[in-house]
Amino acid sequence: MTEPTPADYTGPRRILSGIQASGALHLGNYLGALKRFVALQEQDAPCFLFVADLHAITVWQDPAVLTAQTREIAAAYLASGLDPKRSVIFPQSAVPAHAELAWIFNCVARLGWLDRMTQFKEKSGKHKERSSVGLYTYPVLQAADILVYKATGVPTGEDQKQHLELTRDIAAKFNNDFGVPGFFPLPEPLTQGPAPRVMSLRDGAAKMSKSDPSDQSRINLMDDADTIAAKVRKAKTDPEPLPETLEGLDARPEARNLVAIYAALADLSREQVLAQFAGQGFGAFKPRLAELAVESLAPVTAEMRRLMAAPDEIDRVLRDGAERAAEIADPIVAETKRIVGFWR
Ligand code: TYM
Repeated sequence: MTEPTPADYTGPRRILSGIQASGALHLGNYLGALKRFVALQEQDAPCFLFVADLHAITVWQDPAVLTAQTREIAAAYLASGLDPKRSVIFPQSAVPAHAELAWIFNCVARLGWLDRMTQFKEKSGKHKERSSVGLYTYPVLQAADILVYKATGVPTGEDQKQHLELTRDIAAKFNNDFGVPGFFPLPEPLTQGPAPRVMSLRDGAAKMSKSDPSDQSRINLMDDADTIAAKVRKAKTDPEPLPETLEGLDARPEARNLVAIYAALADLSREQVLAQFAGQGFGAFKPRLAELAVESLAPVTAEMRRLMAAPDEIDRVLRDGAERAAEIADPIVAETKRIVGFWR
């Protein structure tokens, strides 16, 4: 892969991230992404947060469901505490600059780079030939999402790390190929955080995911209190009491996951959680975790429900966000096209 360009980007700092408009949001999305966006909003760099509807259609989406999911994700951004005046919240497809830059990047990225993307292998499974071409170039569109705002920081869960590395490679190759050092920044992955990889409640070795066929494997943001409590109660664990140190969780993936979830929800370190619960079994820990999960998610769920019953309010935010996003993205794409040598 290409070496980073020596000259550094010196433009303004911007934070950007997106969530796909496919399937219901779950606790992994909340802890790995949404809760962290809210914390980052307090810093001085502006945040661009979008609903990735272009990415969603890389696999079949029912059109009416896609529109509803787009509003649901926008509602989740708002209900989690993002302020639409400070952060720019918008649907990806409403800012054509994303797709335009993606085409240019399709001509910068190398087939060999995309062949290494593990997400495509996981999502296409045994039916590679029947997957959409969009699913294959998905990470190139993701690079365009980021670089069309010259974003410098990208908060995501750990599963997006490889896509971020590809984004950096594309930025570096573009800067080198066209002799424009520092034009695109090499964005930093912000995957640190208490729960960058929330695991399934049924299997400590599998990621909590929208696509897991078992609903028991995840806590959905729209689950009610009884469902959340039942899912935590039934979560897979082991018979041992909680240990005193993090090392004691090493060979216990399910226990480690529940401790990480507790820590992230309570804004504690995992060490602090163990200090509180060491020596106690899951019979004592699980009810406390269920209580904490319900307490933390109930206000978010209630506000999401309120917003989803007021689609005009959501649409106003999305329209305004799309306009403000385009104000930043359009000149960057115009400059990129000039660099490439397109007639104007
Ligand atoms: P998506 O929609 O799969 O997930 C949205 C965010 O949630 C995080 N996440 C998790 N974090 C912790 N534990 C989990 N089990 C878990 N599952 C999901 C994801 O890491 C992500 O931060 N390709 C992206 C969307 C995207 C994007 C972008 C992100 C499109 N363009 C540009 C950042 C920048 C995706 O499918 O996320």
